[in-house]
Amino acid sequence: MCELYSKEDTLALRGKHIGPSCKVFFAEDPVKIVRARRQYMFDERGQRYLDCINNVAHVGHCHPEVVQAARAQMELLNTNSRFLHDNIVALARRLAATLPPPLHVCYFTNSGYFFYGNGAYFLNTNTFTFPQDILKANIKPGYHFSLCKISPYKFQKDKDAKKEFVHVAPAPDTYRGRYREGHPDPAGAYADEVKKIIDEAHAGGRKIAAFIAESMQSCGGQIIPPKGYFQKVAEHVRRAGGVFIADEVQVGFSRVGKSFWSFQMHGEDFVPDIVTMGKPMGNGHPVACVVTTQEIAEAFYRSGMEYFNTYGGNPVSCAVGLAVLDVIEKEDLQGNALRVGNHLTELLNKQKAKHALIGDVRGAGLFIGIDLVKDREKRTPATAEAQHIIYKMKEKRVLLSADGPHRNVLKIKPPMCFTAEDAEFMVEQLDAVLTVLEESTGSQTKPVISENIPHRTQKSKEPPQENTPDATTDNARGKRNSACSGKRLPPGKRLKT
Ligand SMILES: Cc1ncc(COP(=O)(O)O)c(C=O)c1O
Repeated sequence: MCELYSKEDTLALRGKHIGPSCKVFFAEDPVKIVRARRQYMFDERGQRYLDCINNVAHVGHCHPEVVQAARAQMELLNTNSRFLHDNIVALARRLAATLPPPLHVCYFTNSGYFFYGNGAYFLNTNTFTFPQDILKANIKPGYHFSLCKISPYKFQKDKDAKKEFVHVAPAPDTYRGRYREGHPDPAGAYADEVKKIIDEAHAGGRKIAAFIAESMQSCGGQIIPPKGYFQKVAEHVRRAGGVFIADEVQVGFSRVGKSFWSFQMHGEDFVPDIVTMGKPMGNGHPVACVVTTQEIAEAFYRSGMEYFNTYGGNPVSCAVGLAVLDVIEKEDLQGNALRVGNHLTELLNKQKAKHALIGDVRGAGLFIGIDLVKDREKRTPATAEAQHIIYKMKEKRVLLSADGPHRNVLKIKPPMCFTAEDAEFMVEQLDAVLTVLEESTGSQTKPVISENIPHRTQKSKEPPQENTPDATTDNARGKRNSACSGKRLPPGKRLKT
């Protein structure tokens, strides 16, 4: 087994040596994962978990073609992008081919956050002068100091921390937001909110540099902006002299099934000025990219600032990026996301008809949110219930997370090789957890409608254990690694809990 320490010691060492602000999933009872393959993760005891949350392992954990591409290039050369190399241009060409024509100039980075830090310079050297403001749909991305400055997900925890150059537009949430599904024009109404903010900024003598939004909000609670919203916002922002930045870090690379990029779901008449991408791009290897137009790239160049990033665009990262694109194509993962995603959404909607706790099921492809509510009429977020459910699902060896401003939205964004059987297994476990929860809390479970979840035979649903073909392969590989020899290092101090 591929462990250096016992689970207890890992926890204790983490408590001692890793900063407390670095959180773990399932903090009450963390999972130790020692290896993974495709859409499955294995803990230190060899128990298999169905991974419904790792959108980074996009084409499947440890995909052999991606691993091989990294290994082959690592054996040959790895260096920075100041040397001419084919991989960086090959990857740039491939990415440009997936995007609408004006978007073809790439800046490679090793983390999605790059744009939000150094990218501020990038923006400020557009056609504008300092100082300029950034306008954001009320969403996350977060985690980095530079990013925290503009991320409501982060700074709302400290109400005073929002910088004066950041403006936050209401999330275009038609389920729980200001303008809901019954509104005659939610897209227009939410876009008008953006216009209002721009006008107020102008009245205060400020200028708008950019509007940043995820094409579909992930940590914001799996929110899909209403059709036409981005077009209208882009119009307001461009009229104000700003640019539109689509954050595809979580939702890009075919996840939504209908299109390669999530922003493309909003129609061909919407093209952002800048697209940021990361996470799935390297299937776990740190590679990310900012793609923009020639015009914006030239404005950046005219500023006189060089863009250099030690790791961005290195030959190994680009080989990995190319391999990921190859696998998406060869294995038709976009088609799979559409087919399996539709099937899963259908199953979940049947669950919604059965369980009063499910207020809304929304998403596209393999990016789905289940909004849990205590009261369907009032749409009161069922935050505690969501936490309870993810722990119970973990016991059933299904990894889910809960997010959104109220942490009540179960997020489903699995590796793209997720199958129809995985979807059915996951939904059956959820059904069981919801049934027990609703019975124990006395909350009303709605009568099962006729086309409820298809009856399934009672065969054992226990996920297979170690002796799967994948496990054998991995164990064999693990043995080559001295760190996986089964010897344990001396224990550290116990974590104070
Ligand atoms: C939507 C979004 N954008 C940007 C980022 C930043 O990416 P990274 O963590 O690779 O720096 C994240 C990270 O979670 C994200 O979710």
